[in-house]
Amino acid sequence: MARPTLHFTPTQNWMNDPNGFIFYRGKYHLFYQHFPYDTKWGTMHWGHKTSGDLLHWEDRGIALYPSKRYDANGCFSGSALEVDGKMYLYYTAIVYDKINPEDITVSAAGLLASQAMLVSEDGYVFDQSQKRMVVPQFPVIATGEENPAFSYGDSGNVRDPKVWKHGNTYYMILGSQHPDSTGTMRGELLFYTSGDAIHWTFANVYRSDEIRTEMFECPDLFEVDGQTVFITSPFGEECPGNYKDHAWYTTGTFSHENCDLRLDPNLKLIDWGMDFYAPQTTTDEEGRRTIVGWLRMPEALCDDSGNKWIGAFTFPRLVEVREGRICFPPHPNVKKAFSRETGRFSANKPMRISILAQNGARIHVGGFDIAVENGIVQTDRSKVFGDFPSIGTVFQTPRICEASEEIALEIYVDDCIVEVYVNDGEYVISNICYGLNNEFYCIGAHCKMYVGES
Ligand code: FRU
Repeated sequence: MARPTLHFTPTQNWMNDPNGFIFYRGKYHLFYQHFPYDTKWGTMHWGHKTSGDLLHWEDRGIALYPSKRYDANGCFSGSALEVDGKMYLYYTAIVYDKINPEDITVSAAGLLASQAMLVSEDGYVFDQSQKRMVVPQFPVIATGEENPAFSYGDSGNVRDPKVWKHGNTYYMILGSQHPDSTGTMRGELLFYTSGDAIHWTFANVYRSDEIRTEMFECPDLFEVDGQTVFITSPFGEECPGNYKDHAWYTTGTFSHENCDLRLDPNLKLIDWGMDFYAPQTTTDEEGRRTIVGWLRMPEALCDDSGNKWIGAFTFPRLVEVREGRICFPPHPNVKKAFSRETGRFSANKPMRISILAQNGARIHVGGFDIAVENGIVQTDRSKVFGDFPSIGTVFQTPRICEASEEIALEIYVDDCIVEVYVNDGEYVISNICYGLNNEFYCIGAHCKMYVGES
């Protein structure tokens, strides 16, 4: 196969962050950071796919590509919103500070970032001439006016607009950075508001002495069950694993009156597998908060048609509050798609393995090992991670329960992706693996297996 069946992957070439995730006029639309010409990161475009169920995706080609002076070097991450039946896309427009004449697809120095948007009438036609800049950067447009926002943020690193509506007002959160008194870069968040989702005014800034990060990428802020949840992928933070940057969540309070954000500085990992980055949430067709994240891959794969591709999204997960804790269980459509029971594990089909594990349980899934020991779940991909062990192979949850208690595991395997949901999303460990085989055993646990509908 060399391509997952029920996970979102690019048809060809490079993919990173999910963008513009929205349920719009009866369909899910999911866009993605895309370099259409190679299996490495370069001048960013937005690829586009649609789905009726979040599992089977139809390729819709490229939605955004560089076409204006202010986005000449890329359309970075952003979000989508339905306004009066139209689809509004918000993204970060990039101009490179310096062009490398030998490779114009990556910047030779810094970036110049503005926030821009495009209104699509139907979510299928994206007329690039309709783009407009909504939060300009100072060197690009000189308005002659004092813009208070310019005393905040950074002209190059200010990006990833996430937009939502509350009451009659539209809100935009942006990730950025500023130097502290020692000159060290520290993450900050900018808030803008708008009455029509087109004209935006700077509203507030969030800075924290306690959250130690260089920059907040892909911020997302929403409410679930009355709880304000903040998600970000801060880079430069000190954290476990060898991949340096991860996606985190925390809770807090947010005033829609003045965009005053207060956060619990104890950020928690969304996924403990360390490949997961830059997630984005939306509400599904029933209004449930749903998240997908990017699984970084060190090497491209080639599918049966000869298409090389790299980068995958996790299964959609719900964001739920359970006994005061934020949990990330698989979306109900995922559970539904794996209902046909089978007695045999096959690495060639999408599979779900459902397990009630006792202390000391050992599960071996196609070369991927899972161990339950003293209330901790540990995964080990060292036998199925080729030449990339330096990225990290062994990951574990913190201590979840007493050793004597059972732990429920749902293990989803889909070609190169293994997602382990612990106690229905109390913890999740997702891993990219290369060359899973048909070997399977399960010791010290009761196990059932299901095949996914492809
Ligand atoms: C996160 C990120 C975003 C940016 C995009 C560029 O992975 O760095 O902050 O918009 O990727 O591709």
